[in-house]
Amino acid sequence: MNIEQLAAPGVRKLTAYDPGYDPETIRQMLGLPCMVELGSNENGYGPSPSVREALKSCDFADLIRYPDAGARRLREAIAQRWNVDPAAITLGNGSHELLVLIAETFVAPGDEVVFSQHGFAVFKLAAIGSGGTPVEVAALPRSGEQPLGADPAGFARALSPNTKLVYLANPNNPTGTWWRREVLADFLARVPHSALVVIDEAYREYVDEDEVPDALSLTGLHPHLIVTRTFSKAHGLASLRIGYAISSPRLAAVLERTRLTFNVNLYAQLAARFAMNDVAHVERVRHGNATERNWLAQQLRALGLFVFPSQGNFVLVDFQRPAKPIEDAMLKRGVILRPMGGYGLPTCLRVTVGLRDESQALLLALREVLAEWA
Ligand SMILES: Cc1ncc(COP(=O)(O)O)c(C=O)c1O
Repeated sequence: MNIEQLAAPGVRKLTAYDPGYDPETIRQMLGLPCMVELGSNENGYGPSPSVREALKSCDFADLIRYPDAGARRLREAIAQRWNVDPAAITLGNGSHELLVLIAETFVAPGDEVVFSQHGFAVFKLAAIGSGGTPVEVAALPRSGEQPLGADPAGFARALSPNTKLVYLANPNNPTGTWWRREVLADFLARVPHSALVVIDEAYREYVDEDEVPDALSLTGLHPHLIVTRTFSKAHGLASLRIGYAISSPRLAAVLERTRLTFNVNLYAQLAARFAMNDVAHVERVRHGNATERNWLAQQLRALGLFVFPSQGNFVLVDFQRPAKPIEDAMLKRGVILRPMGGYGLPTCLRVTVGLRDESQALLLALREVLAEWA
């Protein structure tokens, strides 16, 4: 029997998530001295100094022990920070794991999973992998205030008695677009209680527009709201793989049945606890990112490119011509950008907002590349 047929029906329809380039591998392949990595929305500011100190003081003797499966101290720190019950928190090996875990736990064949066109890629993969029926809602037009963002009216129309799960990233990756407070509140109030709603706030800490709501402030509007966040972005801990979900304690107790017992390692738990407590560091990162994002967007627009509005640590750039040759040419110059063909945006590239010297290196290379094509 063909190995494809041995896979579960949902898995047969899946293609693996594209994680982007590994900078060291590509650097060696190209024989370059260094790479400017602007393809994965990481955080050039790094983690809090208190995280560094805590990791330095780790005792390697502890490596023989399993980590605390309940991550008690970290869950208490998160609970205190957001004023929620520790029992409402589920920890994941990155929020990616949680997004998939939620579908695996709640979605059965025949259940519909609603998400946006140009929404975060994991939503579709989780929907398909769990055997559910993906319902992709057409994005807003390019011309409006939230170009190619998720369409609230389209989401409302997509709801049906079969809807089991709705995914929305706010702000969204890769478009950078967002839903305002009234829009999200209005939608949440419409979702039937037979469905769950996941608001993916991986980029929440970068938000600097008051109109973008903290979804935790809207938990009263839907009983099965799950807010996911991550330590990979503003907290600068992508390598340690840790994220969290906040839901009702009853919903979290169901997720606990399917969560892998030791999915979050000792160092991730420790680092995340110190990261959560360093509010000032996150504030510095937010402020630095907002300044650099504005500056970078201005510079890119000055090159005649269409830059989408963004509340994240990245901007989507439309070159209005196939972007693959531009991506390749940038790579040869040592700059990693994220191709968007897989998102149905073949004329776009996504650019992480780096530190100023990284953005300058990006712009220098891009000017050369664009001049070659002019
Ligand atoms: C919108 C969104 N959600 C979730 C994730 C997953 O992040 P992680 O698994 O590192 O927490 C990402 C990563 O880029 C993202 O862009």
